[in-house]
Amino acid sequence: MRAQGSDWWKQAVVYQVYPRSFRDTDGDGLGDIRGIVSKIGYLDELGVDALWLSPFYPSNLADGGYDVIDYRAVDPRLGTLADFDDLVAAAHARGMKVIVDIVPNHTSDHHPWFQEALAQGPGSPARDRYLFRPGRGEHGELPPNGWRSVFGGSAWERVDDGSWYLHLFAREQPDLNWRHPEVRADFERTLRFWSDRGVDGFRVDVAHALAKDLDSRPLDELDQDPVQGSGSPDNPLWDRPEVHEIYRAWRRVFNEYEPPRFAVAEAWVAPEHQRYYASPDELGQVFNFQFAKAGWFADEFRRAIADGLAAAADSGSTSTWVLSNHDVPRHATRYGLPQVRSRVYHQIANDWLLRDGSTYYEDRAHGTRRARAAVLMELALPGSVYIYQGEELGLFEVADIPWDMLEDPQARRTLHGDAIKGRDGCRVPLPWEAADAPAPAAWSASFGDGATGSFGFSAPLAPAGDGSADGVPARAAAAPHLPQPLWFAGFAADAEAADPSSMLALYRRAIAARAELLTATGDTSLSWMPASELGPEPDQVVGFERPAADGRALACVANFGARPVPLPAGEVVLASVDPVDGALPQDACAWVLR
Ligand code: NOJ
Repeated sequence: MRAQGSDWWKQAVVYQVYPRSFRDTDGDGLGDIRGIVSKIGYLDELGVDALWLSPFYPSNLADGGYDVIDYRAVDPRLGTLADFDDLVAAAHARGMKVIVDIVPNHTSDHHPWFQEALAQGPGSPARDRYLFRPGRGEHGELPPNGWRSVFGGSAWERVDDGSWYLHLFAREQPDLNWRHPEVRADFERTLRFWSDRGVDGFRVDVAHALAKDLDSRPLDELDQDPVQGSGSPDNPLWDRPEVHEIYRAWRRVFNEYEPPRFAVAEAWVAPEHQRYYASPDELGQVFNFQFAKAGWFADEFRRAIADGLAAAADSGSTSTWVLSNHDVPRHATRYGLPQVRSRVYHQIANDWLLRDGSTYYEDRAHGTRRARAAVLMELALPGSVYIYQGEELGLFEVADIPWDMLEDPQARRTLHGDAIKGRDGCRVPLPWEAADAPAPAAWSASFGDGATGSFGFSAPLAPAGDGSADGVPARAAAAPHLPQPLWFAGFAADAEAADPSSMLALYRRAIAARAELLTATGDTSLSWMPASELGPEPDQVVGFERPAADGRALACVANFGARPVPLPAGEVVLASVDPVDGALPQDACAWVLR
């Protein structure tokens, strides 16, 4: 039973769709909105409460759609507004909510406002919607200061007339000036536009960057990169106190609707500041990425859970739990690589990717086993669970995409001083049908050619159907926009749907059990199990308990250590691997009702 009413999001399972890689119905190699509609039955069966769509707006794809040209339209390559309305109707008909991504920190450099700013020249009102500043040096030939973009390189770009504009991300993503009343008014219009079309909520991109102070001190005195999450009000770029006025105004817009629209902030801020973004007067919920950052160590997961719960209690909201998204290497891969504690999260995975997956051994059996345990642990937690498309199939990162086929602007750039390969390896178009396997490509024995098959990614819809029926595989006109490896054949959704031991089957069972046993109670409390119940090495175990429907308690036990953990007495409702003689082996998780 999916939650409805104004609190539907508090313990929702939200499925993130990266639309260009989900399902293509017109054979151009790019996923589209009708492709999502065609899989609504699949999403319904998976049991998720809501869909979050990464940007589907007109874009030049300088940053995977996070460079928006028009905030109130659908990219014609992905469909039309009518297709979008059909998607909302199809989701709502099955009790699923729809969340869209809002990208307010920057526009595309092809957005009409930026084009107008370029055309009108220095000092014009159109320029004031962005952050243009004069350069340093005798002829202004040096950038206003030494700030670096999050994607590497200078955060300033010079235009033909010699002025510079700020871009915290790619140079095709100029930052907006949120002190400008038109900028504020236009985004409120966008929130109403989608809310009026029935959208239930918003994911707010880089929510902590909108308010900036470039004027209180001379820019050239601010040469060091301001640190995200510093928590300091002196930080000119990140997490400034004035940002909260913007979200209080947005809340007034959300509350014009019944039920009020929901929002979740992507805000990389100090833990004690998360509460402001998540407050009921502002966005309502904030992403907690600590779960996704944790290595495969019991203490890192315990801390991530404890901190997430504390932050949620602080804000009066609920926590969020994330293992993967479109910005990080897939977790089945991360857990299959050597586990090394490091100051920089995902360091081993990013290093392995940089060398096309050749530096360390990716132990896929290990990765899968741990990914199964991780998702059971995650789905037992109170709060919202965000699932990234393909993780339910147990997909691994595609490490060896040829460098000349990469799309991510991060590729080849340096991040925190290190070169990185970027995020395309988790954005490869999904495998739906095992039988539609492509032939090896002429350029590589390990990738499909896309012309002879695409694992059902690019396939026309069946001519007549109820909107949920899938098409018969047919040859796509164009290859998928990122190449699919031939090993995707082992992860196709149709094969996994027929296999009770697959990752997909586990996700389906666990999401259903969560709804029935945990979410149904409306209770978000959690208590840690005492060490005496956690076997011979309690430090190696994450064990907690939640109130379950029918008055019993659900104990969730995850064993990271080598020694088996005797399970508490009760009914084992789910286990990531079969317990042996009543004990849970290493890298496994079980739910016990007692
Ligand atoms: C965060 C998004 O998740 C990421 O994909 C994007 O590149 C940046 N924000 C910039 O919009």
